[in-house]
Amino acid sequence: MDPLPWREAWHAALYAAGQGFYVTRGGPAAHFTTAAHGPTGAALARALLRLPEHPVRVVVDLGAGRGELATHLVEVMDPTEPRARRTPDTTRVVAVDVVDRPDGLDDRVDWVRSPGGSVLPPELTGLRDALVIAHEWLDVVPCTVAEVDTDGVLREVLVDPTTGLESLGPRLRDADRRWAEAHWPTSTPGDRLEIGLARDEAWADLVSRVEDGTLIAVDYGHTATERPSGGTLTAYASGRLTTPVPDGSCDVTAHVAMDTLDADEVLNQREALQALGLTGTTPPHTVATTDPLAYLAALERASIEARLLARDGFGGFRWAVKRVRGHDVT
Ligand SMILES: C[S@@+](CC[C@H](N)C(=O)[O-])C[C@H]1O[C@@H](n2cnc3c(N)ncnc32)[C@H](O)[C@@H]1O
Repeated sequence: MDPLPWREAWHAALYAAGQGFYVTRGGPAAHFTTAAHGPTGAALARALLRLPEHPVRVVVDLGAGRGELATHLVEVMDPTEPRARRTPDTTRVVAVDVVDRPDGLDDRVDWVRSPGGSVLPPELTGLRDALVIAHEWLDVVPCTVAEVDTDGVLREVLVDPTTGLESLGPRLRDADRRWAEAHWPTSTPGDRLEIGLARDEAWADLVSRVEDGTLIAVDYGHTATERPSGGTLTAYASGRLTTPVPDGSCDVTAHVAMDTLDADEVLNQREALQALGLTGTTPPHTVATTDPLAYLAALERASIEARLLARDGFGGFRWAVKRVRGHDVT
């Protein structure tokens, strides 16, 4: 098969109708674990809801998997309301992903199907009083992969979609080259770059859907002072790290240049969660004798928080936070 630019092959491998990995192979949770799953997801949901400094009428979970974080969000917001008794003035939680509404998803979660990658659904628009969370979305937005050749020139990396065999293609197109010059300058032969332009544009599109509110991209990534030199393209399937072959058999992901996104601040998840009240501190031993049940509950909470704060784990993820201020009505 003719080699294709990584970006093109990657998009088809993950999102092509009837054959893309995310469309056909079960939800992400069948292949890897994220902080949105299980007890860390509930703690994360609680913390995320504390972030906006404005009333929130709609929460969007963009790249929702099968609605794991969205389910935690409705439970945290409304732990007592039975599923069927949803009221119209409840804050809406909308989960967006590339498949139809999953069977058994909590009734309180609305579902929107999306095309995938950098393309967002048209109905996601005009969001007001919004909290928009993109948890591990941008790392699966396909981007141009580039490599510096022996003459120090940045060329596009091509890939055979059936074997994963790579070759060097033409010089980078102008827009990607300009992005590299501005954000990831290098002429060291062999250096590999994942050009962040496609992620910057996808994020900008998401920001444009919000009239007022707060957006958070949570992902593993880097900033200008710590760009990786060997590339970060990686693949997962059925819980295992595997060679990235863009044939629809595995997830394909690459770290995100978080500092080039249009954001008000970029911070480590550890700092962000600490600022929102997570400590990971174990309760004093004395509580074990005075109130054993409270002690056990506090111990469990501390261990979940510690997982979210771990520097070499979830705590090392980055948050890019963007605040969109609504137009004042005069
Ligand atoms: C790495 S998984 C993360 C899932 C979940 N947010 C979590 O953290 O567990 C990325 C998810 O983003 C979804 N995705 C990719 N592009 C999308 C788009 N344009 N709109 C909605 N979902 C998208 C994929 O289908 C996949 O479910």
